[in-house]
Amino acid sequence: MEIKEKMLISDFSFYYDGGKRGGSKMVLNHVSFGICANDVVSLIGPSGCGKSTLLKAINRIHEVSYSVRVEGKIFLDGGNIYDSTIDTIWLRRKVGMVFQKPNPFQKSIFENVAFGLRIGGNHNEAEIKDIVELALRQSAIFDEVKDRLNESAMTLSGGQQQRLCIARALATKPDVLLMDEPCSALDPISTQKIEDLIEELKKSYTIIVVTHNMQQAARVSNMTAFMMSGELMEYGATKKVFTNPLKKITEDYISDMLNSSGISELREHIVTMQAHVSDMFRNMLDGFAKLDIKESQVIIEKDRKVDEMKHEIDRMISTLIALRQPVATDLRIVIASMKISTDLERIADHITLIAKSMKSLKKILTAEKIKKKIQKLGFHTYAATVNKIFEGALQSLNEGNTLIAKGVCNSKEEMLGSSKKMIKELMVEMSSKKLNLESGLQFIQILKELERIVSLSGNISEDVIYIFEGDGA
Ligand SMILES: Nc1ncnc2c1ncn2[C@@H]1O[C@H](COP(=O)(O)OP(=O)(O)OP(=O)(O)O)[C@@H](O)[C@H]1O
Ligand SMILES: [Mg+2]
Repeated sequence: MEIKEKMLISDFSFYYDGGKRGGSKMVLNHVSFGICANDVVSLIGPSGCGKSTLLKAINRIHEVSYSVRVEGKIFLDGGNIYDSTIDTIWLRRKVGMVFQKPNPFQKSIFENVAFGLRIGGNHNEAEIKDIVELALRQSAIFDEVKDRLNESAMTLSGGQQQRLCIARALATKPDVLLMDEPCSALDPISTQKIEDLIEELKKSYTIIVVTHNMQQAARVSNMTAFMMSGELMEYGATKKVFTNPLKKITEDYISDMLNSSGISELREHIVTMQAHVSDMFRNMLDGFAKLDIKESQVIIEKDRKVDEMKHEIDRMISTLIALRQPVATDLRIVIASMKISTDLERIADHITLIAKSMKSLKKILTAEKIKKKIQKLGFHTYAATVNKIFEGALQSLNEGNTLIAKGVCNSKEEMLGSSKKMIKELMVEMSSKKLNLESGLQFIQILKELERIVSLSGNISEDVIYIFEGDGA
């Protein structure tokens, strides 16, 4: 069998020995996935799912302290690392490991990094010095320690100790670097340094990094493995796993991990904005029925409020994106909210323009004449249907109902067709002077505004389909 991946975990299971009580505990359950050279793989999943166990199994470090049993294989450059011929010292030099808590030895900074070389039998001091310096430079810590190489490693800060441990792992020229929550004990600035370092190191190494920080996984890795209860639930490109995972359980885990209070607040704002625009629409229908100028004034006032809401939503969205870097469904909700709030604002504008046209009409024609015209054209029924479509779009949004959303998208064409017919009728009346030009234009204006509301309702429904079904990629 030819293996093209740098590393291939093949049907791998892992058991901790039950000790004196006997029995054994299965911690990894038939895990399989491949890792290409220069990949950065993030390993995510709930506490106790076996992430650390999998890392330790990759360089067989567990054998130092525990009695364990494994099934399946792990290939490195095509060779099974569990073959009886494998020298574990060699393996641990090829596959370096960095732990959650920095664990430098009680030695000088220099000797910490030189350690692996010395036990590997290298006695060439000049060569050791060069390699130590290179490893410290690669770990972005050289400048901070170059004048104190003989001081104890224990005098370094936590973040420096972690970079020293990375240097120690790099000194033996590994191919693969395993990092078990390398930043979880570090402050944000040190974390940033380690993330920058991973970005640099991936040019020369293949890296597997365990993290509980979803934003970090999204930032540093190109591949993501999601584990649960010892099983690999999903493995794929980080971009895909974070924005459109195959499994709901993956999405739920990632979304839960990202505190989503900002998202629910955003959703509440969108719901309030909808209620307002919905109200305006009802005022407009009432206006058609009663031909009451007061309704138009109410609509114009409400439009101002909708504009304010839109600004507030924009502000919330920028904060969310800047501070929280939403992913998965949350990200889709943020993007869709941005579009939906814009569409709602526009719908409110069109309703307002209709109210203004009604006001103008009242100046030209008597209420009786307007009423007759509206009825004859079937205007009110048309407006009521547009209202239904608009409400359908809102319902699909609030219930996450993509079936209704698709219905809204489909009715668009039909609505535009019947509006065209009414406009034609109006033009005929205008040319035969049955209807004066000015009022005819106002009626056409109203129909055009209603058409735009249908289109925008269609946009909202398309966004609903996007939120709840993804882009299907
Ligand atoms: N030496 C051991 N003997 C027996 N069981 C162990 C041993 N070490 C770990 N386990 C068990 O193996 C399972 C996986 O542990 P592991 O440390 O790999 O999880 P993890 O995903 O790294 O969790 P965390 O995110 O909390 O670090 C857990 O149920 C744990 O209790
Ligand atoms: Mg762990």
